[in-house]
Amino acid sequence: MSRSYKVTKALIPVAGLGTRFLPATKALPKEMLPLVDKPVIQYVVEEAVDTGLTDILMITGRNKSALENHFDRVAELEQTLMAKGDEDRLEQVQESTELADIYYTRQGDPKGLGHAVLTGKQHIGHHSFAVLLGDDVIDAKDPLLARMIQIHEETGDNVIALMEVDPSEISMYGCAAVTKTEVGDVVIVNDLVEKPKTEDAPSNLAVIGRYILRPEMFTLLEQTQPGRGGEIQLTDALEAAVANPEIAGGVRGVIFKGNRFDTGDKVGFLKAAMILGTRREDIGPELSAWLKEYAKTL
Ligand code: G1P
Repeated sequence: MSRSYKVTKALIPVAGLGTRFLPATKALPKEMLPLVDKPVIQYVVEEAVDTGLTDILMITGRNKSALENHFDRVAELEQTLMAKGDEDRLEQVQESTELADIYYTRQGDPKGLGHAVLTGKQHIGHHSFAVLLGDDVIDAKDPLLARMIQIHEETGDNVIALMEVDPSEISMYGCAAVTKTEVGDVVIVNDLVEKPKTEDAPSNLAVIGRYILRPEMFTLLEQTQPGRGGEIQLTDALEAAVANPEIAGGVRGVIFKGNRFDTGDKVGFLKAAMILGTRREDIGPELSAWLKEYAKTL
């Protein structure tokens, strides 16, 4: 029987400390900060679910219990809303509970993104899977994940998402050297470097927080030594896949041209709140009118 590259599971690492957002993240996980009225993490889970991935594993850490509570039932609140006949709010409260089958594993030591992914080995098993970074929000209008899964199913290669950034920003990201293919938005990845200096970067293509990985990547992650920042980097394991494609397949990139919000960054977070807010039917018109007037005063 030929091997299947079907993807049904998603892994979402949420163990990061959120230091860029202190003091707000002193007691609150950064993924619980609200964009309008939903926490960031719910957008990420909804993206996975909308792409057909309803088995979700979150890799959590200390102080992340608010995340588990958010996706759990709150019986008293539901009863109160039911008694009041407030069906709209009841539906909103129940929405996050009914989204998907969500499982949680704790990372223990925060040894880096590669280590966080490796923590999911047991749950993921022998199937290809998606990784969605918990503070990268991809605009629901730009279906990146579905495209990545399609490329993975067609080629059997690992697939990463790449986005052009200003060369001055590449040191905040993994960076890829690539060759074009005959398909416009798909490239072959020839080299990967985690957070290079601008002068050392092989391109201005940044790795953004979506990955489709083969289960053999766990073998490469187990062999990956601590890299940048003393952490086990997913980028380094993918670089090993590029160098030894016979173990876990090669690596392809999908070039993303849509909206991506780095909600772990203050400005990225505020931009996301404004864009999502102005699009909303309920508050959009009022917010847009105010924004236009306010912009004139800047
Ligand atoms: C991680 C990855 C990096 C990637 C980035 C995307 O870095 O290590 O390769 O470009 O996510 O958001 P972090 O932002 O966790 O430091």
